[in-house]
Amino acid sequence: MYKGGDSIKTSVLGLGTVGRAFKEIYELNEDKISKSLVRDTSSYPKDNVTDDFTVILHEKPDVIVEAIGGVEPAYTYLKQAMEQGIHVVTANKDLIAEKGKILRRLALENGVNLKCEATIGGGIPILSTINHYLKRDTVVKIEGIFNGTSNFILTLMSEGLTFNQALERAIEGGYCESNPSADLKGFDVARKICVLLQTIDYSFIDWRAIEVVDLEAIDPIWFKYAKANDLKVKLIATIVLGPVIQAELEAVLVDKNDRAFAVDYEKNYIHFESRHLKGTSLIGYGAGGSPTGYALYQDVIDIQENDVLNLQDKRVEPLDIYGKWVTYNDKFEIYEGKRRENSIRLRSEK
Ligand SMILES: NC(=O)c1ccc[n+]([C@@H]2O[C@H](COP(=O)([O-])OP(=O)(O)OC[C@H]3O[C@@H](n4cnc5c(N)ncnc54)[C@H](OP(=O)(O)O)[C@@H]3O)[C@@H](O)[C@H]2O)c1
Repeated sequence: MYKGGDSIKTSVLGLGTVGRAFKEIYELNEDKISKSLVRDTSSYPKDNVTDDFTVILHEKPDVIVEAIGGVEPAYTYLKQAMEQGIHVVTANKDLIAEKGKILRRLALENGVNLKCEATIGGGIPILSTINHYLKRDTVVKIEGIFNGTSNFILTLMSEGLTFNQALERAIEGGYCESNPSADLKGFDVARKICVLLQTIDYSFIDWRAIEVVDLEAIDPIWFKYAKANDLKVKLIATIVLGPVIQAELEAVLVDKNDRAFAVDYEKNYIHFESRHLKGTSLIGYGAGGSPTGYALYQDVIDIQENDVLNLQDKRVEPLDIYGKWVTYNDKFEIYEGKRRENSIRLRSEK
């Protein structure tokens, strides 16, 4: 199994917005990608692509980068890859939110890395900040704008465009996925909250239990009101990591003093409140091929340089030593670990 080194053999699954951008960045800096999985091979040089995943496995890459999206067949592919000792990197938050628990266990069992920086915040190094810099700190609260598409649309609506006009511009700009409903209905943010909780707390929750906001349901009158009063409409996600976890996505009006005020268009931000660092904010491009492709590339490089969260690290390995899995309200599961004694609650009290 690949344990880091000078050269690394990498395959990509899916050559859409993100997969293509990743391939371009990778090949600019490294060797050529060994082989890519696409659905329709007709518009690519024959040697570079296949539509058969077994061909990818047969090539024995060190790392497989997944950028096809959705739960299946991505889950089956990554499972098979890990079982064959191949490290995996993914941009797919749907997959991690839905299957994160089993995939993380599979990674442990097979001694491979499962890296997913690109699943949240596009190119903003959110998960690596949690896994490295904040690793020994205690994060008590996280807030942020975690969806570039909806923030792009909100920004254009603040500038006077209708929802449909703004959506069209987001599609033209490549900020929307082929089916943008998860972005617009807030489900995308709920899934990202799951990825954050998995990373920071080993809590595995069902994203459907998180209260979210449907962008289309925001009354256009608020944009007029905001403009007249020097305010902005923003969708802010909040996670409170107390004895119980509270998480939600809310539509709010913010003024100039709010850190979300200047975060416009496809930009995202995240703010961590933690015991030692007090307050740490990151801001950057939360969507788009190039930033997301770069996040995938950096994950691959971390594997190559062996600069990854050590799988034997006490924060990851002792799942069954430090705590246990508990079903809560028949709805979702939480890992009751060392740091958290109680159950989980997913709605702050108003
Ligand atoms: N776009 C962003 O800004 C962004 C940001 C962060 C994370 N992500 C995540 O990145 C992933 C990819 O997103 P994207 O925007 O690049 O989507 P996309 O443009 O729709 O690309 C997906 C690609 O995967 C291909 N594909 C789908 N199923 C396949 C299969 N079974 N075998 C081979 N190829 C398959 C599609 O081929 P066809 O064209 O033939 O369908 C398409 O080329 C998603 O998980 C998304 O959530 C995207």
